[in-house]
Amino acid sequence: MSIFRADLLKGQTAFITGGSSGINLGIAHRFVEHGANVVIVARNPEKLAAARAGLEAKGGRVMACSVDVRDYESMAKAAAEAAAEFGAIDIVVAGAAGNFIAPAAAMSANAFAAVVGIDLQGTFNTFRSTFEYLRKPGARLMVISAPQAVNPTPLQAHVCAAKAGIEAFVRSAAIEWGAVGVRINGISPGGVLGTEGLERLSAGLDEKFSQSLPVPRYATLDEMADMALILVTPVTDYMTGHIVALDGGISLLGGTYAQAFQKK
Ligand code: COA
Repeated sequence: MSIFRADLLKGQTAFITGGSSGINLGIAHRFVEHGANVVIVARNPEKLAAARAGLEAKGGRVMACSVDVRDYESMAKAAAEAAAEFGAIDIVVAGAAGNFIAPAAAMSANAFAAVVGIDLQGTFNTFRSTFEYLRKPGARLMVISAPQAVNPTPLQAHVCAAKAGIEAFVRSAAIEWGAVGVRINGISPGGVLGTEGLERLSAGLDEKFSQSLPVPRYATLDEMADMALILVTPVTDYMTGHIVALDGGISLLGGTYAQAFQKK
């Protein structure tokens, strides 16, 4: 049961990239449960249609845009359409992300560019394309980062670079956009059950890994959605430029910690 009123986000509009799956779809559901209109933006039309149907089944007003966050013109079009349909945008979640495990020395330039393009450029494109439609003052923006932003992690150099860039961008933009009443924060999740990211990253790890963490388990989608909700409530009105480590303490252990749990 949520500790927040069911009508907390009534009439508000949330624009969510990567919104057809994983953490971002979980956030979209939580926002709909609290009365928001949601715009979900993602590449795959079939996944988008399924996500939209699930959100509408909860009574949400939903717009689904099939767009690659790396394509600025298409992002600008999606943001304009969202504003035309729902009015000012109250909440933006820049959540689209790419990931694979690969050594830096064996990765193509295009592979590195794919992850930096989706994560870092995609975050800029999301915030920049929605900026003119944001409710000012009052809009709340958030990113989905990762412990790789602060922990150098083998086989994740591309992700480390992208996520560190995102966190640096958040801190700078929070200063600039604070002046017009827009605050920007983020969540840095560790492993989250029910996500493609965890499937990819944990495939080669012994299951004892999650039990060895300071909070000895992976997170749930509900925990991510609840934190996203907190970041858009008045409870966090005085907070900006901050990334919440919602990671069970994994970021305390360093990026090489998981290596000891590689399956033989
Ligand atoms: N190892 C090395 N390189 C890889 C790779 C892997 N596992 N997967 C993709 N690449 C490379 C491709 O070979 C290509 O480089 P090339 O042109 O030099 O061959 C480059 O990355 C771009 O690949 P492309 O297939 O054009 O895909 P894309 O631009 O659509 O993005 C992913 C590819 C892998 C980044 C993206 O599909 C993805 O991340 N999907 C998973 C989403 C996910 O798990 N999200 C949660 C993140 S925590």
